[in-house]
Amino acid sequence: MRFPPDFWWGASTSSYQIEGDNRDSALWEWERKKGWERSGKAADSWRLWREDLKCLKVLHLNTYRFSVEWSRIEPLPGQWREDALERYGEMAAALVEAGIRPIVCLHHFSDPAWLCREVPDGWRSPDAVKFFARFAGKVAQALKGSVREWMVFNEPLVFLTLGYSWAHFPPGRFGLHRMERDFLGKGGLIERCARAHVEAAEAIRKARPEALVGIAHNVTDLEPARDNAADKGAVRDWDELMHWRLIDRLVQAKALDYLGINYYTRVFVRRVNLPGVPLRALPGHAEVEQAAPFLFRLLGGRRGDRPRTDMGWEIVPEGLERVLTRAWERYRLPLVVTENGIADAKGDRREAYLRDHLAAMARAMAAGASVRGYLHWSLMDNYEWGSFKPQFGLFHVDRVGGSYERTLAPGAEFYAKVAGKNELP
Ligand code: BGC
Repeated sequence: MRFPPDFWWGASTSSYQIEGDNRDSALWEWERKKGWERSGKAADSWRLWREDLKCLKVLHLNTYRFSVEWSRIEPLPGQWREDALERYGEMAAALVEAGIRPIVCLHHFSDPAWLCREVPDGWRSPDAVKFFARFAGKVAQALKGSVREWMVFNEPLVFLTLGYSWAHFPPGRFGLHRMERDFLGKGGLIERCARAHVEAAEAIRKARPEALVGIAHNVTDLEPARDNAADKGAVRDWDELMHWRLIDRLVQAKALDYLGINYYTRVFVRRVNLPGVPLRALPGHAEVEQAAPFLFRLLGGRRGDRPRTDMGWEIVPEGLERVLTRAWERYRLPLVVTENGIADAKGDRREAYLRDHLAAMARAMAAGASVRGYLHWSLMDNYEWGSFKPQFGLFHVDRVGGSYERTLAPGAEFYAKVAGKNELP
């Protein structure tokens, strides 16, 4: 299958996961508090970004999605590090010069530490929106010369769930039993997040009117745990909350020029009629199954039978076809696969994973979905939120040896061939 001319072949990364030394992020302190493996120098990309650019060239990629680190640019409220903005500007200009389209994401899971101090209610408060919009305006002005494509947030529902329901990310709130109210209620997290996106989009378009604004949105392929009406209803409820409620608002506000889909796996959802279970829907995430296998089984969680990645995620390529088709049918907005990839330390599954997921994307396109690009997660092995163990990279990074040298990972040659020829063999 040949892809349309100027198809975006790319890779994605995020600042906190690769740059290293993001000491002013709320996550820096959090790693210590939680006893996580430390991010430290990560992939040392703040220093070695030119090496990353070379990696993109080796792979014949024409697009690179990276994020800017809010806490690096604004380490204290209203205090701007112009040198950091200049460095990002230099990176974006060098990418353009090399024929690579930069896609800049403004928020990838990492809030500045000061936001948690100044705004104790975090993203529940309109103040977070105000601060974020100001930051977005500053970055948009600084990068407008080289950057046309933007992502406001990366996986906001994942970020908010981990920070405000699961206490797994800063600000560390546990509120699973209150999730419906916290997310869906008036002035709730989805409303705040939508407002922040809309204001950021306005700032971006003000800086560069022909800019294209998107979001990198986590969409999981959901299936009912049992073939009955109750579980099908649970799938619908969970799907609306986690996938579409926010996007509906952004589309209504005309604040999306394209929709980025991060796709990794499928999850079985079951109706659970217990108080405190949000929407009375239990999604059987592998993380829950791994952390609390007994509870998972007790509540009737269903485990799929497909091969799994090193994250324990089931490999379900046709799920990508389904989620792209659903998103296209619902919005008729151009789509971009903004993340898709496999934690595969041995390196013996990445090629097949790529082949099968690209074929699934191609089927969605052949059936009519307008997909503008595919950005693999990730360009290189990086800090996987608490651990360096999962290896998602098209390149390995010699972190342990301390040289931070990048070397091609198994499966990457295949991707380079597809991107170079614009064709899936
Ligand atoms: C996130 C990345 C993460 C990847 C693999 C996505 O949910 O955007 O930051 O590394 O999945 O877990």
